[in-house]
Amino acid sequence: MNELKKIAKRLVSEGKGILAADESTPTCTKRFESIGVKSTELTRNEYRSWLFSTIDIEKYISGVILYHETFHQSIINTNISVPKFLKKKNILAGIKVDTGAKDFAGFSPEKITEGLDNLRPRLNDYKIHGAKFAKWRAVIKIGKNFPTKTCIAANCHALARYAALCQESGIVPIVEPEILMEGSHNIQKCYEVTENVLKNIFMDLNLFNIDLEGIILKPNMILPGEKSSERISNEKIAELTYNCLKNNVPSTVPGIAFLSGGQKSDDAAARLNLLNKIQKNKPWKLTFSYGRALQEDALTNYALKDEEKVKRALIKRAKLNHLATLGKLD
Ligand code: 13P
Repeated sequence: MNELKKIAKRLVSEGKGILAADESTPTCTKRFESIGVKSTELTRNEYRSWLFSTIDIEKYISGVILYHETFHQSIINTNISVPKFLKKKNILAGIKVDTGAKDFAGFSPEKITEGLDNLRPRLNDYKIHGAKFAKWRAVIKIGKNFPTKTCIAANCHALARYAALCQESGIVPIVEPEILMEGSHNIQKCYEVTENVLKNIFMDLNLFNIDLEGIILKPNMILPGEKSSERISNEKIAELTYNCLKNNVPSTVPGIAFLSGGQKSDDAAARLNLLNKIQKNKPWKLTFSYGRALQEDALTNYALKDEEKVKRALIKRAKLNHLATLGKLD
C-alpha cells in the first residue's frame, strides 16, 4: 500500500477521529478573550500542550491539526517539538496550510480561500518536520443570491490544486468544504448547496488526477441555517447527511471526518452516532475532525488555569465521539 493510503487509513482507523487545534492566532485570541484569558504565544502554547499531553488521548484521537505557530513550538516546559511529541504518542501531526478565507473580489460577501503561493516549499518544509497530513478549508455562504457558481468553482479549483501539491509532497490532504450554518435558509437549501459543492469538488479532484484513496473529506453535516425557524430532529439530520454523502462521495475515499461548525458539542456527538447507525457496511469511515465540539469544555476550564480539569474535559469529549464513531453512544 502506498504511503498516502496508509496515512489516510490511519487517520480514520476504527474508533478514532481528529482533533482540530489549528485555530489561527486571531481566532484563538477571540476564543481566549471569550473566557477572559489573554492570548499570548505562551498561553496558546500552554493550553495546547495541556490538550496534547492528556493521558490516553491517543486511544480516541488519530491525528491533530496544528497551526503554524504550534507546529514550531515545543510542548511547554520541555524541549520536545510538538510534532515529535505527537509522534511518540502515536498521533499523526497535521498542519493547516491555507492562509484564510478572504473577500472574493467582485462577489462580496462571498469568500475565497488563499494560500497556494509558495505552497510547494511550505509543504516540503512541514513534511521534513514531521507533518503527515494537511488541511485547507473552503468557506461557502448561503444567502439570497449566493453561493454563486463562480465562488463554488474558484474554491473547488483551489482545493484541487492544494490536494495535488499535498500528494506530490507525500502529505494527505484533508479537503474541507464548509457550507456555513450562518443564515436563515432551510435544511433543503443546505442539502442542495452541499450536493452541488461536493459534485464540483470530485469533478475537480478527478481533473487534477488526485488519488482519492489518499485524501480525507471534511464536510459539514446537513443542517438548517442557525437563524431558520425549522426544527429538525437529529435522526432526520443524520439521514439527510448520509444520503447527501452516499450520492456524492465516491466509495474510494477512505474516510469522511466531519467539522462541527458551531453545533453544540452534545449535538455534534449525537448526530455522528446516528450517522454511524444508519448502515453497517458503509463505503467510507464516518468520524470527527472537530474543533469547538471537542474543545469547548476544555477551553472553559482553561479560564480556571486548571490543567487536570482541561484534560478531563477533553478526554470526556474525545471518548463520547469515539463511541459515536462506533454507533455506541446511547
Ligand atoms: P469546528 O469543528 O470548530 O467547526 O472546527 C473544525 C475545523 O477545523 C474548521 O476548519
